[in-house]
Amino acid sequence: MATTLITGANRGVGAEMAQQLTTRGDHVIGGARSGEAPTASEAWLLDVTDPASLEALERRLENWALDLLVCNAGALIGRGQIEDDVYTHEAFANVLAVNVTGVFMTIRACLPALRRSSLSKIAVISSQMGSSERAKGNAYLYRASKAAATNLAVSMSKELAAEGIAVGAYHPGWVRTDMGGSEADISVEESAEGLIQRFDALSVETAGCFEFYSGEPIPF
Ligand SMILES: NC(=O)c1ccc[n+]([C@@H]2O[C@H](COP(=O)([O-])OP(=O)(O)OC[C@H]3O[C@@H](n4cnc5c(N)ncnc54)[C@H](OP(=O)(O)O)[C@@H]3O)[C@@H](O)[C@H]2O)c1
Repeated sequence: MATTLITGANRGVGAEMAQQLTTRGDHVIGGARSGEAPTASEAWLLDVTDPASLEALERRLENWALDLLVCNAGALIGRGQIEDDVYTHEAFANVLAVNVTGVFMTIRACLPALRRSSLSKIAVISSQMGSSERAKGNAYLYRASKAAATNLAVSMSKELAAEGIAVGAYHPGWVRTDMGGSEADISVEESAEGLIQRFDALSVETAGCFEFYSGEPIPF
């Protein structure tokens, strides 16, 4: 039975990935800052921006071997242009803390447990909005944070391949969640199903990829 940890597993794409993975028989630890992840096998309190929460995670994982870590927790502030008032120093600090620092620190906290598995993988849920080639002149903060998240995944894939740990970055599609909104293209079910297929296909040979949930490569 594969063991997976998903951050932000209490709602949205994270909750649906937990649902589908538990349904197929995997053991899913659902990380949530509320401590509640009803679709996971078990819920652990986890705020990816809180050093004490991440230290507690590392301690709690001491007797676990983790096959897959999904860095899914994400935050979005501001879809507007440069002079949009929402782009405050505080907004930058908050979004970067979740989408960039949170990804890096979660991976670091989970590394000992990932090293205990013989087939360990790390999936960073990024966004095509972080692709510089697909820049649109809006949503600056979110785009910059996801560019950094993708960059972390690719850089880490270089270091961790030597240990047999595969790292990939993924765009979940434009998904009908609180973040994506009700007008988005696809359901959480479709997104999670595609993402899980991508995680299954991830290996040290394909590590460093940046892909849609449906498998197409995304330019950096
Ligand atoms: N939906 C889309 O169209 C879309 C497109 C591209 C990329 N993405 C990415 O896909 C991922 C999932 O998005 P979603 O649409 O499911 O978003 P969502 O419905 O807004 O859910 C975000 C999740 O992240 C969690 N989270 C936020 N800050 C956290 C923190 N400090 N510690 C732990 N958990 C935290 C939230 O927990 P709380 O309930 O506690 O707030 C929630 O579980 C995100 O990384 C997002 O950027 C989404």
